[in-house]
Amino acid sequence: MPVDVLVGLQWGDEGKGKIVDVLAPTYDVVARFQGGPNAGHTLTFNGTKHVLHQVPSGIFHPHIINVVGNGVVLDPVVFREELRKLTARGVDATANLYISKKAQLILPSHRALDRIWEEARGGGRIGSTLKGIGPTYQDKIGRTGLRVGDILRADFKQRYQETVERHRQLAAFHQRELGIEADEAAFFEAVEELSQLQLTDTEYLLNNLLSQGKRILAEGAQGSLLDIDFGTYPFVTSSSTVVAGACTGLGIAPRYIEKVYGISKAYCTRVGSGPFPTELLDEVGEKIRQAGREFGSTTGRPRRCGWIDLPALRYAIMLNGVTEIHLMKADVLSDFDEIQVCTHYKRGDGTLTEQLPDLAELQELTPEYTALPGWRTNLDEVSDANALPSQLAKYVQYLEEQLNVPVTIVSVGPDRTSTLHLN
Ligand code: IMP
Repeated sequence: MPVDVLVGLQWGDEGKGKIVDVLAPTYDVVARFQGGPNAGHTLTFNGTKHVLHQVPSGIFHPHIINVVGNGVVLDPVVFREELRKLTARGVDATANLYISKKAQLILPSHRALDRIWEEARGGGRIGSTLKGIGPTYQDKIGRTGLRVGDILRADFKQRYQETVERHRQLAAFHQRELGIEADEAAFFEAVEELSQLQLTDTEYLLNNLLSQGKRILAEGAQGSLLDIDFGTYPFVTSSSTVVAGACTGLGIAPRYIEKVYGISKAYCTRVGSGPFPTELLDEVGEKIRQAGREFGSTTGRPRRCGWIDLPALRYAIMLNGVTEIHLMKADVLSDFDEIQVCTHYKRGDGTLTEQLPDLAELQELTPEYTALPGWRTNLDEVSDANALPSQLAKYVQYLEEQLNVPVTIVSVGPDRTSTLHLN
């Protein structure tokens, strides 16, 4: 079957961009199915680091058709910046890039509302990236959004004004102004440039490619624990980050899906608010943060760090039907005598559970750990999966046994080449 889906199994930032870039040579199409400029997919090769927000991570491979699917929320201004950066680096980003006419448009007023609503949440802040994601998906579900295809209509400006007026009233409820006057000229310039790109009904494009036997890699953004339904609600993003989102976000039927790649770090991070049972608030967490350079690629915020969490991973594997795990950033744990693995949670009443409970209970859980010996080996020199240090091989084997899914890639550095393929 010709479609494989790649999803994050944690709270995002697992290293999905790197893996899409590594796997891209074996596909014909890379398609983003949800999220928007809140994502930051980092790819490193030939000594250069690239961060993509909305452009699919297949863009550096000239043979790949890159698709921004209907499930995505697109900010034309951010998109234009990304394309400019790629052009400046000699990448012809537009020739093989198609954008769904059904993708939702992020307006300057969505970004303004994101900020206003986040501030109004006070102590209950989600820690949003403030890119306008929540308000744009809210308009989509409320059937009041503007879509990419709308920019081609003669009445676009009028519909834009009507939408902004509605947003103005929402802001007024909080006694706030939108304050977007300075952003509107850039928005319309970016919309004009967007209208010159290949805007199409990408569900037809993708299904035509499927009928020609082409292979598609669906690129997820954020992570399963940020999913609007199954994540740690309300501390989540506003889209379906799990594999089912690839069907609705691209218009591809489930029967085409074969492999599901689940991407997980060898430890765990979270950026923004919300429960994180294995979070380390001590010097161990700080050591992971420094070793892993765990600062947000979209916002620069320090990421919260902790040990790997098997109950949370099992939940994400169940939701996605993961067929292979890719274990990322193993090199970051090279300087630890012991690696802790959370196997269960202990509830307030002392009983153990392997399930991820609801938010209220999640906050009262304490993780139960098993310690495994660290590998204490610099992995820079390891270029062959058969040469993994034995303690790292045991860590991988332990995860496979506990999660009942094979680990097929171990990543030992940010570069494309620092990727070990296991049999
Ligand atoms: P929003 O999607 O910007 O509204 O943010 C909602 C929550 O998801 C916040 O906790 C963000 O930090 C988190 N989040 C959104 N996008 C990403 C991502 O790409 N990586 C990691 N966390 C993210």
